[in-house]
Amino acid sequence: MTSNNFPIGIFDSGVGGTSIWKEITLLLPNEDTIYLSDSINAPYGEKSKDEIIHLSIKNTEFLLDKNAKLIVVACNTATTNAIKVLREKYTVPFIGIEPAIKPAALKTKTNTIGILATKGTLNSALFEKTSSTINQKVFKKEIIGKGLVELIENGKLYSKEMTELLSSYIIPLLNQNVDCLVLGCTHYPYLIPQIRKIVGNKIQIIDSGQAVARQTKAILEKHQLTNTINNTPKHQFFINKNKDVLEFLISKNDMNTVVEELYF
Ligand code: DGL
Repeated sequence: MTSNNFPIGIFDSGVGGTSIWKEITLLLPNEDTIYLSDSINAPYGEKSKDEIIHLSIKNTEFLLDKNAKLIVVACNTATTNAIKVLREKYTVPFIGIEPAIKPAALKTKTNTIGILATKGTLNSALFEKTSSTINQKVFKKEIIGKGLVELIENGKLYSKEMTELLSSYIIPLLNQNVDCLVLGCTHYPYLIPQIRKIVGNKIQIIDSGQAVARQTKAILEKHQLTNTINNTPKHQFFINKNKDVLEFLISKNDMNTVVEELYF
């Protein structure tokens, strides 16, 4: 039986989904969380749909074993390729994340938006379906952020390599009339300061983190699963690689947050 006291489960191909974890803990400060970082298999974005489904099932089983009452797929690539299968296979509620192209299509004044995401996300049927629902006059410049996830996973967030790679993806957008850039990968919010250095304030940067947190809250309420009495929430992180980068990103500084290297 599921209980309100059980944790929210969150998984990503790596450490990027912690950008979503942060939004969730801000909006839902009474909830315990369990975060699974499948860093050893990152990046998912270059894998086949079948491989992504297989890994998403494995991650889900891990979180269900730890009594997750709801699962947040904090990975655009896993959501766009696997969430349908997960929802069919398990009864626990799933929250997914997709590139925020709908809000971007409403905000753009130049009718041109950039979307930085993985190959797996941009090539998925779900991305194509969502794309077909936005104003067709809005021109989409899709960019595969090849290599960005690997640099973040390896702690090279502020490296010269990162600046050069990001510039090669972003600078062309400045000449193409793009006024909104959608970050379609949960690792990329960590790159916002670096992107700002490249584009200044010429482009609005849009990600889906807060929307995912709001949706998580709404679904917990709908299923009457909200934890209202917990004043000392616990946050457990499991990672199948060295934990240093993860600890740095979450700014681990309290006793109720535990990060464990576990080679699952
Ligand atoms: N954080 C994942 C996402 O949102 C990274 C994908 C990958 O591992 O390639 O898509």
